[in-house]
Amino acid sequence: KSRVLSGIMPTGDLHIGNYIGAIKNWVAMQYEHDSFFCIVNMHAITTPQDPKELYEKTREVAALYIACGVDPKVSTIFVQSHVPAHTELCWILNCIAPMGWLERMTQFKEKSKGDRERSSVGLFDYPVLQAADILLYGNVPPVPLYVPVGEDQKQHLELARDLAERFNRLFGDTLAIPEPYIPKYGARVMGLDDPTKKMSKSEKSRYHAIRLLDSPDDIRKKIARAVTDPGRDIKFDPERPGLYNLLTIYQAVTGQSEEEIEAHFEGKGYADLKRELAERLVEYLAPLQERYRDIRQDPSYLENVLAQGAERARETSAVVLNAVKKAVGLE
Ligand code: TYM
Repeated sequence: KSRVLSGIMPTGDLHIGNYIGAIKNWVAMQYEHDSFFCIVNMHAITTPQDPKELYEKTREVAALYIACGVDPKVSTIFVQSHVPAHTELCWILNCIAPMGWLERMTQFKEKSKGDRERSSVGLFDYPVLQAADILLYGNVPPVPLYVPVGEDQKQHLELARDLAERFNRLFGDTLAIPEPYIPKYGARVMGLDDPTKKMSKSEKSRYHAIRLLDSPDDIRKKIARAVTDPGRDIKFDPERPGLYNLLTIYQAVTGQSEEEIEAHFEGKGYADLKRELAERLVEYLAPLQERYRDIRQDPSYLENVLAQGAERARETSAVVLNAVKKAVGLE
């Protein structure tokens, strides 16, 4: 059976960009593929984290996966650090990964802010650990392996493919070549306060992102304040990035087509769009937030899901890791 793997870092607060760009598609894909969804806490520590917060965020993200519709009876939900195969394969891949490839990664350039003296080796190595996360779930012999992510992960997915191909060239066909799955709409949700910047978990500005756990009041305030562009008619116009972004979010939560949405807002203005969008978002997030609160009521339920997930992920990933070790001559 084909496989799906994806993950999110337990840093900052999950927002509708994470949902529309990634989790929504996980939920849709989980019934067709054997699916693995990881909370990548080892990636989180490539930049400084408060230990207590990291531990708590890891649970929060796991509970949000479930609240968003990832079904632990169908999919495997696990914490990256519970499965040592990830760091083991990362080390082996490190030994065939050219530094030059990693030097070209735009995320390192951004996150290190050019300060290589003070950036961690882990931050530099981040994409290799991500490649390991993915390649471990390709099975032996390889099966189709899909990675549903937002557009910002394209370069990391390329690197994972390149590393798999390089490994196979050097040591014989072992690893599946993963396929990114990047949605047509909503692969890059932009900041509400600045529609030229990607909506981001680490952005501190209050009016930047709609978080999955935002209160109705916050949602209304943020949408009301969202930056828009000159022009009146409500159209999917890429030249008007603020409007385009709001319409993309509207489309994601209503499931309507561009034509339907444009027809609906014919003769209406920004104020109508914002009012409706805010109400749709509030309605959309309410059941998710209720499920989230239910899940958090019972910590033992969540710990059980994560323990079973870890066991399943360990079993599954051991197959590829063993094949890799054999191919390299480690076993
Ligand atoms: P992270 O934690 O930054 O983001 C999680 C997922 O959300 C998507 N995303 C967005 N999609 C649309 N619009 C946005 N504004 C937006 N912001 C974030 C991301 O593309 C991602 O799919 N490196 C990864 C974590 C990772 C991973 C993996 C992913 C580690 N190992 C293996 C897939 C497979 C990251 O930083 O995601």
